[in-house]
Amino acid sequence: MREPTWTRDRLRRLVNREIGDYRIIVVSNRQPYVHELVDGELRVSTPAGGVTTAIDPLMQECAGTWVAHGGGPGDYLAVDEKNRVMVPPDDPSYTLRLVWLTAEQQQGYYYGVSNEGLWPLCHNAFIEPTFEQADWETYTAVNRAFARQVSEEMNGGPAAVFIQDYHLALLPRFLRDLEPDVITGQFWHIPWPNHEVFRICPWQEELLDGLLGNDMLGFHIGDHCNNFMEAASRILGARVHEEYSLVYHRDDSTLVRPVPISVDFHQLETDAQTPEVAEEMERLTAEWGLQDKIVGLGIDRIDYTKGIPHRIRAINRFLERNPQYIGKVVFIQAGVMSRTNIIAYQQLADQIERLLEDVNSRFATDDWQPILYMPTDLPNRTLMALRRLARFCVVSSLHDGMNLVAKEYVASRYDHDGVLILSPFTGAALELTDALIVNPYDVERFGDSIRQAVEMPRQERQVRMANMRAVVQENNIYKWAARSLVDMMQVGRRARRPIRSA
Ligand code: G6P
Repeated sequence: MREPTWTRDRLRRLVNREIGDYRIIVVSNRQPYVHELVDGELRVSTPAGGVTTAIDPLMQECAGTWVAHGGGPGDYLAVDEKNRVMVPPDDPSYTLRLVWLTAEQQQGYYYGVSNEGLWPLCHNAFIEPTFEQADWETYTAVNRAFARQVSEEMNGGPAAVFIQDYHLALLPRFLRDLEPDVITGQFWHIPWPNHEVFRICPWQEELLDGLLGNDMLGFHIGDHCNNFMEAASRILGARVHEEYSLVYHRDDSTLVRPVPISVDFHQLETDAQTPEVAEEMERLTAEWGLQDKIVGLGIDRIDYTKGIPHRIRAINRFLERNPQYIGKVVFIQAGVMSRTNIIAYQQLADQIERLLEDVNSRFATDDWQPILYMPTDLPNRTLMALRRLARFCVVSSLHDGMNLVAKEYVASRYDHDGVLILSPFTGAALELTDALIVNPYDVERFGDSIRQAVEMPRQERQVRMANMRAVVQENNIYKWAARSLVDMMQVGRRARRPIRSA
């Protein structure tokens, strides 16, 4: 029999059943709500990136505590003397506890190890990682500081701690040293590289040992789990029980599982249908001259893993080979600038500007240009209007753990229209098999797939979109949260109880 679809309500019931006396504590680098000071008044915004979007609904259901780095300029003013503030602002339901970091700590921990070391190490984008020993010491110290604050937050009671991502790989081990009974799970939101790549990292043992402090460790897809288990076996000599996906290390075990992350399908579908979005679509159509145009869309953090230059080259090739579409297709590239202190990101921004100028100056007419570039933080309403206007959406990542932009596009198309062009190097490609799957490095085929998207008959678009929507509706964010929570609680309870009672 088919399992009923996961909803927020069903997750709430599961949370009540599963967590019992345990407090749920989520830990991440990014905070789910950022406080800014605008004209002397505190304003709250939500940061870019899939991690926070995915976990906020879970936290609202379990009323736990979220511990994160406080990076907002108004955060100091928002918290109480224990560095806590209740969120979401319009319906406070859980506690956010902020950890303060100095500029030096940010440099070594966030920019250095996390984003100049681990990010390029884990993504096949041919950007060489850098490994600075001083940064590693900072990363270690910051992970220790997070562990101390989580332990304080536990206040002697039973807790299940759900840790997010590559910024906090050492936290589970440090926390277990402080709190042997704690249940911990971690989700690694980016790929895990194969052994040949991972073994270049000078801190490979420490990273593996840190992560194996968890009861449960989740990746998006099976390949990343296998890569991790191979690393644990070859580097640490850990015993791997393949059938049960368990890694044994230091008299303890960790369940390593693929749990593909997703979006709130129902919420996106509902948001897409508001009158405000319809008005925004009209405004954008008039202001950007989109009447009678076929619109293509890209929405990305401006990151070298997203294949943005490859996408611009493919549009160039599409127009070269299909001049009948000059003046008829407009590609809108929206994005958020990210990690701009890092040279590779500055170089990428320059490269994108140069490529855009080439393509736009080559094909533009008096009243049309092929690509509109908006690397600014566009409001959600505008992004939703763009998804609705776009005949096709391009996700051309060179490597991506999942990619939620693809799933957001599908969930927003309640009209069952639109074509998704998707890189096979995303986790999403394993689920969204009705997308046009194309290798972003293959500029000829990529250009052809844009033509195919532009020319696809309505009926085929509808069939493909309906199939993809069924997948995202089923494998939604509540299912991800439920599976993560159940795995963590069940494995954790089994692993911790016997040890204590013995
Ligand atoms: C990816 C990472 C997240 C991160 C997000 C935004 O999705 O997996 O952990 O928050 O990018 O990046 P940023 O560096 O701005 O937090």
